[in-house]
Parts: sequence; structure tokens; C-alpha cells
Amino acid sequence: LIQILMKKIDKKKDIGNLKHIAFIMDGNGRWAKKRGLPRNVGHKFGYEKMKVVLKRCCELGVPVVSVYAFSTENWNRSKEEVDAIFGIVRDNLVADTPLFQEWNVKISTMGDTSKFPKDLQDALSDIKKSTESNTGTILNLCINYGGRADVCYAVNQVLAKKLAKVTEEELGKHLYGANLPDPDLIVRTSGEQRMSNFLIWQGAYAELLFLKQNWPSMSPKLVDSCITKFKKRNRRFGRVK
Ligand code: IPE
Ligand code: IPE
Ligand code: MG
Repeated sequence: LIQILMKKIDKKKDIGNLKHIAFIMDGNGRWAKKRGLPRNVGHKFGYEKMKVVLKRCCELGVPVVSVYAFSTENWNRSKEEVDAIFGIVRDNLVADTPLFQEWNVKISTMGDTSKFPKDLQDALSDIKKSTESNTGTILNLCINYGGRADVCYAVNQVLAKKLAKVTEEELGKHLYGANLPDPDLIVRTSGEQRMSNFLIWQGAYAELLFLKQNWPSMSPKLVDSCITKFKKRNRRFGRVK
């Protein structure tokens, strides 16, 4: 009984002011290499871990979870690897649709999906449509996303409106995810300490956290510890506290 009670208390862990957590899911390749496996197997395990992390965030009631799945720079990888990543995303999103429904997860995307193979584009628009009315956690898939491309795209839309001046507010309206809160916390795995062109505008005031573990080694416990660390941060936004 005590164990059951403890589990219940644990599940209700307080998330503080966290509205949006974003993950740079890095280290799939190194995780696989360490085990003598092909990189693509690392990506497959990486996808499975994304689900584990999402489930924990749903339990905790985190409103928005962004995951960096494919960057505008990732086209520079071999065609074989790019195709494998697209295949994993397509097949698993379709297969896991009932799970996202059960978890009440709404799927959104950031990034230019028009460059993707037709079957992947279809899978993405199908899952967005079928989860549209879900009211739980938003899973925001960042695919073919780049922060610089994001800003350029927004500037071009502002220019098309023939406005004399660009304001932060106006630009913000045209960025990907304009309807989402800015990320409060950006977590990168695999020990690398850089943004790699992720949410450079929206993440201007995000707290940053770098984990040594490769992405396929993520766990619900690590999600909890990220949130505990986040809650200890003193966010000043330029003010004196
Ligand atoms: C992150 O893992 C996944 C993607 C970029 C799609 P990597 O594939 O970058 O893994 P490492 O960094 O080579 O270990
Ligand atoms: C960032 O990881 C992109 C994703 C996680 C999708 P990379 O592995 O592509 O970044 P770099 O090349 O190490 O900066
Ligand atoms: Mg990497």
C-alpha cells in the first residue's frame, strides 16, 4: 500500500512554471556505435525513448513537449541515413496513433515538411488531423526545422505584408509555433553543449540543460531530474531579484 501511495505522490510531482520543455535528441549514432549496432538502430531506439519521455511528460501534465527530430543541416547526412530516419518517423507515427489518442496527445510540427517524400507528408498530416481535438500534452515535432530558416521565413512573410517596420511582436506572429508558449527549458543529451540551430528565437530566454547520456538512454527518472533542476533555476528575465 505504501508503495502504491508513493507512486501516486511521485506521479503528481510538481512541475512549477514549466509550460514547454524542448529536447535536442542527440547521440543516437554514438549509442548504437558503442553497442556495435548500425546508426539506424540507434534512431529506432531513439524513437522509442521519445515515447517514454512523452508519456512521462503527459503524466506530469507538461503542456508542450518539443522534440528536435531532423534539422535543416541533417540533409548533409548520407541518403541512406536520411531515408531511414524518415521511414522510422513515418511507420511509427502511423502505428502509434492509437497510443497518442489514448494519452490525449495533440501532434503539431515545426519545419518545412514540403521537401519530404509524399508518404511521410501524408503520415504527418493524417496524425495532425486525427489528434487535432485532443486536449492533453502537445507533442511538437521539429522536422526539417532550422532556427535561421524559421526567422527568414517569418521575415519574408512580414515583407509580403509591406510593413514599414518589423517589430518583435509582428515577427513572432509568423514564426513556427506562434501559437505555442516559448520553451522554458531546452534539454540536450549526449554531452554536446550547443543549440545546433534549434529554436534560436523562441529559446532566447530558455533555461539550458546538458545531459551526458545519449538520447536512447533517457528515462522517466531523467525527465523528473531535469524538471527538478529547472525548478531550482532563478529566472530573472533581466530583472534584479
Ligand atoms: C540525433 O542523433 C538524431 C538526429 C540528428 C536525427 P545523432 O544521429 O546525431 O547521433 P550522434 O550525434 O551521431 O551520436
Ligand atoms: C541536432 O543534432 C539535430 C537533432 C537532434 C535533430 P546534430 O547531431 O545534427 O547536431 P550537430 O551536428 O552535432 O551540431
Ligand atoms: Mg548528433
